[in-house]
Formats: sequence, C-alpha cells, structure tokens
Amino acid sequence: MTLLALAVAGRGIVDPNTPVVHADDEGFLRGRAAFETTRVYAGRPFRLERHLERLEESAARLGLTVPPRLDQLAAGAVRAAGPIDAFLRLYVTPGREGSGEPEALALVGELPPDLEAMRTRGIAIAGVPLGVDPPFLLGGVKSTSYAVNMVAVDEAKRRGADDAVFLARDDIVLEGPTTNIWWRRGETLRTPALELGVLAGVTREVIFETAPYEVEEGTYRLDDLLAADEAFTSSSVREVMPVVQVDGQDVGDGKPGPAAEALQEALRALT
Ligand SMILES: Cc1ncc(COP(=O)(O)O)c(C=O)c1O
Repeated sequence: MTLLALAVAGRGIVDPNTPVVHADDEGFLRGRAAFETTRVYAGRPFRLERHLERLEESAARLGLTVPPRLDQLAAGAVRAAGPIDAFLRLYVTPGREGSGEPEALALVGELPPDLEAMRTRGIAIAGVPLGVDPPFLLGGVKSTSYAVNMVAVDEAKRRGADDAVFLARDDIVLEGPTTNIWWRRGETLRTPALELGVLAGVTREVIFETAPYEVEEGTYRLDDLLAADEAFTSSSVREVMPVVQVDGQDVGDGKPGPAAEALQEALRALT
C-alpha cells in the first residue's frame, strides 16, 4: 500500500512518511481503536457521513471518544491527495495510555492494483471457522483488532483461495474478513443478518437500496451458500466482487453472475 496523504487531528496535513503514533498508544498496545475505510472516487469520498456515523458507533462500543471535526480532517487528507481514485482510512485511538487524549488520523492511499482483474475472473473463498456462537461482544464493530481477520485471509490463501468467509459454530455464514457476503438463489438475494454480529456494511446498504431482487437477511448455513446460483462479496474497497468458488466447489456455473454485475453497475452509478 502506498500512502499518498496523511492528516493528524490537531496538526493537520503532515508528510505521509512522518511517524505519528506513540509507542504507548492504546490502539497500538491493545488494539483498542476504531477505524473506517471508504473509497474516494475522483477526489470525492463515497458516503463519508455514513462512515463517520459508523465510526462513532464503533468508538462508543470500544469506549472511545471521537475527536471533533473528523469530516474536516478527512477532507484535508483527500484534498492533499488530489482528484484521484483511492481509499480513505480514518482511525480513532484512545491516545497514549492513561492520557485521556484521543488521537485521530486520516490516511489516503492507493487502491490495490488487481481489483478489476479479480472482478472479471471472480474470486475463490474458503470457509474459516471462528468457533463462536454469535453474537459476540464486539460483533459488528470496526476495531483495529483485525489480527483474526488478516490471519483468516492467510489461511484462505494457504488453501488456494483468494479470501476467507467466517463461519460461526454449526457452519453459520457470517462475513468475510473485510467484506459482507451475499448469494442469489433464483430471484432472491440472501445475506447474513446484522443480529449475527456482522458489520453493517455501507456497500451492503447500497445493495439493499438498489437490488432489482428480493433481499432476505437471516441465519444461513454454508450449504445454502454452496447451493446458490451465484455469490459475491461487498465492501467499500472491492465494491461488488463475484465469488465463483467456495471451498473448492463451483458456485452455480463457476462464473461471475448477473446480479453481481448489475449491482456493481448500480453502485458505480451512485459514485
Ligand atoms: C468485517 C467487515 N465486514 C464487512 C465490511 C464491508 O463494509 P463496507 O461496505 O462498509 O466497506 C468490512 C469493510 O469495511 C469489514 O471489515
């Protein structure tokens, strides 16, 4: 990842290579920090207000106070990066241990280069059991404690897939490490319900708004996903990404499906 711009609350824009986090920042020490990622389209962050709301929600669940005017911090970083396509990340940490002075950062960075090639071919995912009964304490919170998420991707890659999908006990499908998961059976789309502790994805909301299909939320087992006509993930960075294999088995005809294509177009039309 190449960092293109960096803004620090209370300091403004700094050189992206400047070290800005203290060694005793609780976000670093304990992984207690909230973050958000959105896409920037030609210098305009997508649904920034909704991401800022979700950041507030995550911070409240983590017991953090959000410094004021993060919208301005984000706007400054985006402006400094220029009118480009990129991702924007916002971080809120409790700051130095015991200081009671939260810190906030806004980063703009380059998008991964291989996303469009992945969208054309479709990705393979592998089920990674979390060994939990949902919902769990921090389900649905976007915290920086993402070690499990990152190691799940490593595990999926080790098994020859591109990405993981988390499974709760009894093979209940949850979400990807950085995505929500969807599948289509006939004219109905299915996605795991928020009550299971999955993240309320902003892209997920866009799919609810734009889908030319019936949409069901619920508790589904892996078998239901395996029997789908097509599947895809949704996230701000990867947008709508077709899934063509799950655990080495083709989904539908093993090719990207029409719902994923239509929803990707609908998402782009809003940007
Ligand atoms: C665990 C998890 N689920 C789902 C998502 C997708 O959310 P969004 O569409 O808001 O990017 C993300 C990415 O932010 C995530 O980290």
